[in-house]
Amino acid sequence: MQTPVTVVILAAGLGTRMKSRRAKVLHRAGGKCLVQHVVDTALTFTPAERIFVVVGHQGGEVRRALATPGIGFIEQLEQKGTGHAVTVGREQLAGLEGYLMVLYGDCPLLRPETLQRLIATQAAGASAATLLTAEMADPTGYGRVLRDARGGVAEIVEQKAATPEQLAIREANMGIYCFRADLFWRHASELRTDNPAHEYYLTDMAAILNRAGYPVEGMRIDDAREALGINNRLELAEVDGLLRARKLRQVMLDGVTVEKPETVTIDAGVEIGMDTVVEPFAQILGRTRIGENCRIGTAAVIDDCELADDVEVGPFTLMRTSRLERGVQAGPFARLRMDNHVEAGAHVGNFVELKKTHMGPGAKANHLAYLGDSRIGARSNIGAGTIFCNYDGTRKHLTTIGEGAFVGSNSTLVAPAEVGEGAYIGAGSVITKPVPPDSLAVGRAHQVVKEGWAKKRRERK
Ligand code: UD1
Ligand code: CA
Repeated sequence: MQTPVTVVILAAGLGTRMKSRRAKVLHRAGGKCLVQHVVDTALTFTPAERIFVVVGHQGGEVRRALATPGIGFIEQLEQKGTGHAVTVGREQLAGLEGYLMVLYGDCPLLRPETLQRLIATQAAGASAATLLTAEMADPTGYGRVLRDARGGVAEIVEQKAATPEQLAIREANMGIYCFRADLFWRHASELRTDNPAHEYYLTDMAAILNRAGYPVEGMRIDDAREALGINNRLELAEVDGLLRARKLRQVMLDGVTVEKPETVTIDAGVEIGMDTVVEPFAQILGRTRIGENCRIGTAAVIDDCELADDVEVGPFTLMRTSRLERGVQAGPFARLRMDNHVEAGAHVGNFVELKKTHMGPGAKANHLAYLGDSRIGARSNIGAGTIFCNYDGTRKHLTTIGEGAFVGSNSTLVAPAEVGEGAYIGAGSVITKPVPPDSLAVGRAHQVVKEGWAKKRRERK
């Protein structure tokens, strides 16, 4: 049986250097807030019930932002250091046997493989804890790792307390630990605040456990960037870039063609099927799912949408929370504002805006239209310039178009409006009354022709 792992994610700090009114861990990189990345990584090796987030600054917001059911929260009202952040959770945590892993909410680049290796290293040895370290060209600001004669970790010395010789050590503490939970809780009360910052340093646990007769190991990672903690907006941008590069790489290895990938944005939660082509400057965001063999045009922005196979999205098309079935064509320059469902083979052309609209299979609105709060039947054709007047200034109303209907160009349908199956609306009509199936409705001024009028006018001058 594998030893169970409890994960504690420290996320109580404000992150002063972000210069933000929002808590640091709520800032987004790679399409997710920082702490959500860490939770998602933890979920790859332990169940939600074993994941605890320590919150303080804007704790309510952090709780709400985390979309993972089952995880626990620990309130750290005053931030008295990383050691304090873990020990305030004693009541919830101390009863959980196995390993106690501590992660930071501002380190979203850590990979599941690395943490699994940390657990395996801890499990293979006889130490009380294993911590992640890396050789850094410039470890300024990090705790330095003092090794003992046997190669274990004797002590971590924080930057502020280090002697010049200790500052010359380039092996840095990444701040990620896997403790034996029983030994951690037995000795956690030995943490003191006798340091320049007057904080409870979690790093002191190395020396404390050693003193109690238990060895501590350090596991080196090759690239310290994986444990990069975000402190300011420059690092946020850097981490965002790294996460996006990682996602793009995965998407391409999974069979998606991405043109000019350095210009394309794909959020971590997106899924894209084989043989789909993504053109330059496209942004595919949120929980969007895209099927196989689709084409996503230049500078299209697709947020929380579901696209089946063979869907074609033209350049500069924007869509949110919409569902497009197989073979739909949308754009270029279309806007599917929210909550639309476009069925198989339907067309949404240039400068067409949809809102809360259901388009049946094969329906077409090819140019310049506003179609809001409506149901459009299969195979019907909506002409250029059609407007559904869904809003009377107070309330929204529905428009229903039957199957196979034809709405002539530049028609205005004042909702609530109903056009029956197979009906025909003459171009330029203003429709205010129901149109029965298979009928023709024309609602426009009659044309007047005055023969010779123009000629006479010219002669008068
Ligand atoms: C810590 C380590 C240092 C290591 C570095 C790696 C200590 C004493 N030092 O330093 O050895 O090299 O991480 O990045 O642990 N937090 C709380 N509550 C608190 C204090 C901190 O939740 O009371 C959270 C912060 O929000 C942050 C994380 O813990 O996400 C780390 O705290 P921070 O003060 O940034 O530690 P470092 O000085 O970076
Ligand atoms: Ca830090």
